[in-house]
Amino acid sequence: MTEHILVQTEARIQKIQLKRPEKKNALTRAMYSALAEAIGQGEADDDIRAIFITGSDGSFSSGNDIMDFLQGPVLGENSPVSQFLAAISQAKKPIVAAVNGVAVGIGATMLLHCDLVYAAESARFRLPFVNLGLNPEAGSSYLLPQMMGYHRAAELVLLGDFFDADMARKVGIVNAVYTDDDLLENAWQKALQLAAQPPAALRLAKSLLKRSSAPAIAEAMREEGKHFAGRLQSPEAAEAMQAFMERRKPDFSRFK
Ligand code: COA
Repeated sequence: MTEHILVQTEARIQKIQLKRPEKKNALTRAMYSALAEAIGQGEADDDIRAIFITGSDGSFSSGNDIMDFLQGPVLGENSPVSQFLAAISQAKKPIVAAVNGVAVGIGATMLLHCDLVYAAESARFRLPFVNLGLNPEAGSSYLLPQMMGYHRAAELVLLGDFFDADMARKVGIVNAVYTDDDLLENAWQKALQLAAQPPAALRLAKSLLKRSSAPAIAEAMREEGKHFAGRLQSPEAAEAMQAFMERRKPDFSRFK
């Protein structure tokens, strides 16, 4: 249990809120476990028709907690993060995400598994896996080029720069952008609309839409997972994370 994930049910929608704003909703192992459990409960509860995920206080999620990275492997089989990724990528019910601020690392790649993604004008996205000496995860090495084309995916992953909500919409990982004030209400309306659809037809449509990509996503996650623990222990990652904690620019000039 963690107080950093808030789960409520309203109007047959399971609302999941990331609530660790003092750390920009960086995800700890306890938070991944709570997310996996919440999605599992939402899936099992016949009264729930859709899942709605959002952040808090102007942050969606700054990705994996960097301090947690330093405590050892995070992507192992049956690890909390793997359980979360399995839950979100295999969910049969539709998932709506309202991105109300920064979405970095897994805070961005989790969106690739949601069905409808809405962002606030001020939301900022970043895929800093290479910058941190790591490799892309959450099946994003497959999903990003598939969704946006190789060159756009390569630019976002290899350079790892921030991009804004409008760019996220243009490359197809966000459905629509709303003003910061209007985001939650508009995204919620879409969730209500989903909740009013015939549920069996909705689940079937989702599974058919994902039918051809599901095996490739699972294979990409396995392949990414093979590299992740090694990358986490690499000197490149150590330098990147040390630099983050010291609030300085990393220096990769000594690496081959
Ligand atoms: N893990 C651990 N702590 C994090 C974090 C993360 N992923 N992201 C933010 N924090 C912490 C900061 O260390 C800071 O803590 P402090 O107040 O105790 O010093 C606090 O959250 C606020 O972050 P700050 O950097 O001051 O906010 P900002 O608005 O200037 O920048 C981000 C926000 C998200 C752009 C920036 O924090 C960032 O780049 N975080 C790292 C993201 C990342 O690389 N994630 C891993 C992806 S694989």
